[in-house]
Amino acid sequence: MTAASAECVGGVRIERGAKIPTWFRCGGAADRLARPRDEDELRACLANDPGLRVVGDGANLLVADGGVRELVVSLEGERFTRIEVDEASGRVVAGAGARLPRVINLCVRAGLGGLETLAGIPASVGGAAAMNAGGRFGSFADRVERVYAMDRQGREVELTREAAGFGYRTSGLGELIVTAVAFRLERGDAADLRDRRDEIMRTKTASQPMRERSAGCCFKNPTLTDAIVGVGAAGERVSAGLLIDRAGCKGLTVGGARVSEVHANFVVTAPDANAADVVGLMVEVGHRVRSAFGVTLEPEVVIWRSESVS
Ligand code: EPU
Repeated sequence: MTAASAECVGGVRIERGAKIPTWFRCGGAADRLARPRDEDELRACLANDPGLRVVGDGANLLVADGGVRELVVSLEGERFTRIEVDEASGRVVAGAGARLPRVINLCVRAGLGGLETLAGIPASVGGAAAMNAGGRFGSFADRVERVYAMDRQGREVELTREAAGFGYRTSGLGELIVTAVAFRLERGDAADLRDRRDEIMRTKTASQPMRERSAGCCFKNPTLTDAIVGVGAAGERVSAGLLIDRAGCKGLTVGGARVSEVHANFVVTAPDANAADVVGLMVEVGHRVRSAFGVTLEPEVVIWRSESVS
């Protein structure tokens, strides 16, 4: 696409042919991208395209090389990136566009515990809520009290944690657009919380390719239907990375995409990679794991594709 030009929808500026920043640092653009500053502007975007897509930090997202036709919305304004910490009650409210690491750091500094278990997870609050981001040390949902969202008709809704339907790397938020999340945290010692956060970060740095271009784990950890010797028992959720590694996929390459030698559930990209390379590699990894273990891996990475205009 050539240089972005501007138009307006209900007072919101729309950029054409805008890059969608993702951690893979490859993939297509948005035909139209808006950065609504508050709920009213988000409502105007929804009136323009009820099928709009929301981009968060792009930490778990792959955009097909052909880009997307729907309006893409990024919640970057002050209203959507606010973080309110009430030290006395332990209630923290963060806008959907706020970065999770920033929320964690503010809470740790305030001596509020519970979110430090999510250290090292790059995500926006809205994205982390939608997919219940997490890892071995905890999940986003653990400390959620309320989710504030907007439906596709522009109505504001409020959900309890139970109503949000969180599960393993999933939520029941569906088509709702998260606008903010309230957490309930516990009082703790700031120095202890900082140590815990740093220890989790060290574990991750040692076992994951943190400096490479990737979207974290590509596949969800599967639950085994049958026991696999040396891997796990029937009914147990096991590491997809372990299965991919045992299937001999480390270092496997398609174009500019490669299975990391550090952690096999990470696909890392070279500067010349395109989204089709990543998808092709994920398909090949899926085949190899299925033929080695009879296990079907489900992608964790969200892939955006639209019909091309002819
Ligand atoms: N393992 C291997 N080879 C590999 C990768 C892992 O043998 O290439 C083994 C490890 O040695 C370990 C076991 O598999 O014995 C589990 O590995 P790890 O602790 O890395 O955990 P994981 O189940 O592979 C999950 C999350 C990660 C999260 C880590 C740590 C999923 C899909 N993955 O990985 O989340 O960082 O725990 O908390 O739930 C992400 O979601 O993007 C992500 C990276």
